[in-house]
Amino acid sequence: MKRPEPPLFDKDPLTKAQARKQHAALAARIADHDAAYYQADAPLVSDAEYDALRQQLLAIETRFPELATGDSPSHRVGAAPAGGFGKVRHAVPMLSLGNAFEDGDAGDFAERVRRFLGLDPDAAIEFTAEPKIDGLSISLRYEAGQLVQAATRGDGAEGENVTANVRTMASIPQQLKGKRVPPVAEVRGEIYLSHADFKRLNKEQAKAGEKIFANPRNAAAGSLRQLDSTITAKRPLQFFAYTWGEMAAMPADTQMGMIKVFESWGLPVNPLTELRADAAGLVEFYRTIEEARASLGYDIDGVVYKVNRLDWQTRLGFVSRSPRWAIAHKFAAEQATTILNDIEIQVGRTGALTPVAKLAPVTVGGVVVSNASLHNEDEIARKDIRIGDTVVVQRAGDVIPQVVRVVLEKRPDGTVPYRLPEVCPACGSEAVRETEEENPGAQAPVALRAQADVALRAQVNVVRRCSGGLICPAQVKERLKHFVSRLAFDIEGLGEEKIETFYDDGLIRKPADIFTLSARDQTSLKRLKDREGLGEKSVEKLFKAIDSRRKIGLDRFVYALGIRHVGETTSKDLAKAYGSFDALRAAIHAAAKAKPGANYLRLMAVRGLGAKTAELVIDHYAQQTNDRGDLFAASAGQSVSFEDLKTIKGMRATALEALREAFASAEALQTIAVRAGQERPGEAYREFAGLNGIGEVATGALIAFFHEPHNSEAVDDLLKEVSVEPFVAPASVASPVTGKTVVFTGTLTKVSRNEAKAQAERLGAKVAGSVSKKTDYVIAGSDAGSKLTAAQDLGVTVLSEDEWLELIGQT
Ligand code: IVH
Repeated sequence: MKRPEPPLFDKDPLTKAQARKQHAALAARIADHDAAYYQADAPLVSDAEYDALRQQLLAIETRFPELATGDSPSHRVGAAPAGGFGKVRHAVPMLSLGNAFEDGDAGDFAERVRRFLGLDPDAAIEFTAEPKIDGLSISLRYEAGQLVQAATRGDGAEGENVTANVRTMASIPQQLKGKRVPPVAEVRGEIYLSHADFKRLNKEQAKAGEKIFANPRNAAAGSLRQLDSTITAKRPLQFFAYTWGEMAAMPADTQMGMIKVFESWGLPVNPLTELRADAAGLVEFYRTIEEARASLGYDIDGVVYKVNRLDWQTRLGFVSRSPRWAIAHKFAAEQATTILNDIEIQVGRTGALTPVAKLAPVTVGGVVVSNASLHNEDEIARKDIRIGDTVVVQRAGDVIPQVVRVVLEKRPDGTVPYRLPEVCPACGSEAVRETEEENPGAQAPVALRAQADVALRAQVNVVRRCSGGLICPAQVKERLKHFVSRLAFDIEGLGEEKIETFYDDGLIRKPADIFTLSARDQTSLKRLKDREGLGEKSVEKLFKAIDSRRKIGLDRFVYALGIRHVGETTSKDLAKAYGSFDALRAAIHAAAKAKPGANYLRLMAVRGLGAKTAELVIDHYAQQTNDRGDLFAASAGQSVSFEDLKTIKGMRATALEALREAFASAEALQTIAVRAGQERPGEAYREFAGLNGIGEVATGALIAFFHEPHNSEAVDDLLKEVSVEPFVAPASVASPVTGKTVVFTGTLTKVSRNEAKAQAERLGAKVAGSVSKKTDYVIAGSDAGSKLTAAQDLGVTVLSEDEWLELIGQT
């Protein structure tokens, strides 16, 4: 097994504009992968690559927290529940773990914990270390000691009710032992299948002519998700308890204590769990487990480190989808060598052309692999991957693997460098190359960029996109697939394949067509029935399923439109903020009218300038104009020079340099800046983009979407068929600061600034970076500066640290 080479990193600091661009590009890519994985069940990249993308995203968000808006994929976990089982809302969300890939990451983790908690450099932090089981996580709810419910993770908020199946598992007690079991105890852990049982099961499956499972995890998942629990009962599923959800009373005050309690209740716990005193101890544990891995008898994909003290876990809390108090240290991916027979181009919903390697089937880490992701043309060029090459492929987890490199010694004669088509293979439109900043992971802290291997360095933001838009059948089909997918309209019986054939048959070309299907003339109905075994019954069933979706929540409706950068969370945020589709559309139209002009955007996009300085520059020139924006005669006649800008307070030399580089002359800058001043975004735009979780990227995408008449028409047609219901927000715990916008400034003494922010967010407050009219409280520590002044100017309530703690009941 070979580790990926460590990447080379650019030393240039990332400007905010660059970061924003890279962030948007990464977010879009991750969203595409999520859709491919969860909705299409056809992942395009390996787990490791996917993780690396997320790490890069997180790295950017670490440096530019304002980019971590609600719709960022960093806030999302796992898949949404599939149909078939009932749904269960988790009392406490089931989250996932941040990943580490290098030894040094253990030390970084310990340091982050230390810093967050404000501990002395020599203060001891104890950790538990345990294997990371490669199975499925499950939440077991015990009431009065009795098992009452078992639920899968699902999307973290809502999972599937698999109680009947879990009740058949011998390793999970129906009743907990002991007197000290709290009235409500949610025990969480991993369901898995041992190697021996997996082998036996596959043998039996083969004999019976049934499906062969790719690996123990798939087999465990397949066994647990049986609609017939007598089948589950025959599968020797096992369980390890390692964490918890709702707990009416805490029976211990350390992680290790909890594991012992679980054991005393009669739950299986992993016997290899140990306490370690520092990062060196954690790494030593990792090595030991890595060596023992093959002989454990079950699959693990790394180890997990957790802060032992539970009061510290509580204080550390979570950052979007994962806890600050734990981290998974993963093993390196497994590799194999095979022949690349062909490169196929897939066209995505947004027109992105994705090259996929067609491989001679090869077993990698126990799984037969025949497709691998190639990302984009730059990746192919950089690795010089050619059809006919022998390549090294790598997989981690059970997602489509990646091509690591070519074995040049084995290159046959007559191969030619691969070129991605410059026209869309589906519609023949020009495929335009979009290039974003290179080297997006460059600013990632070491711990975060570890896995962002060379393969991902230069090409994350390069994409060739079909310009066919609405005329490209591939894009239209993908959009329709998205429309009916699980998190959108979720129409049972109308999956990807049906969309393909219905589209090809001309039966469904736009979303509204789905709903007019049953009312079509007899010819099309007959055609429906004649197709692919769609008998009378299935057609009826399909119509029923479609009819049952004629009422839809606003959030799902917005998500279903498949607007770029408008994912599940943004859709929810929009639904929450605007309540009805009419109100939302009106707000988008208002934002569109108030959107910034090209000159403003051009100035904002100057590399190395920064939004704040750009505003200062605009102000500087605005002072030389009259109300109509014409230059005063005095300044109009005079020659301007870049040197004049030195008079601006807060103007850095680097910013001045950036301007010199970006504009041919000071006059050119002056013209642009004066116009930019007149083209500043208006209130409606600012308000829309500034809404919690929306941001400028999504705002731009929404404006562009509704600006396109064809889209507006398609939406109107659809609205004739379906009724959109107002969004119902899930109930959340109210606190005195729920829904309030707060700004922290200056040095806090009781907790670190990060901890204070996290705490405020936990209580439902929005933490903003700057003070505005909309700010409810400014919490000013010692030596607070301009934000405090701004608060006083705007009449915003200013609280001391103690007053704040009193307000939130933390004294
Ligand atoms: S602790 C807040 N411990 O890994 C999350 N998770 O990537 C607490 N997993 O969803 C999770 N072994 O399914 C924890 N010893 C272990 C684990 C473990 C496997 C899984 C779990 C989780 C995923 C996170």
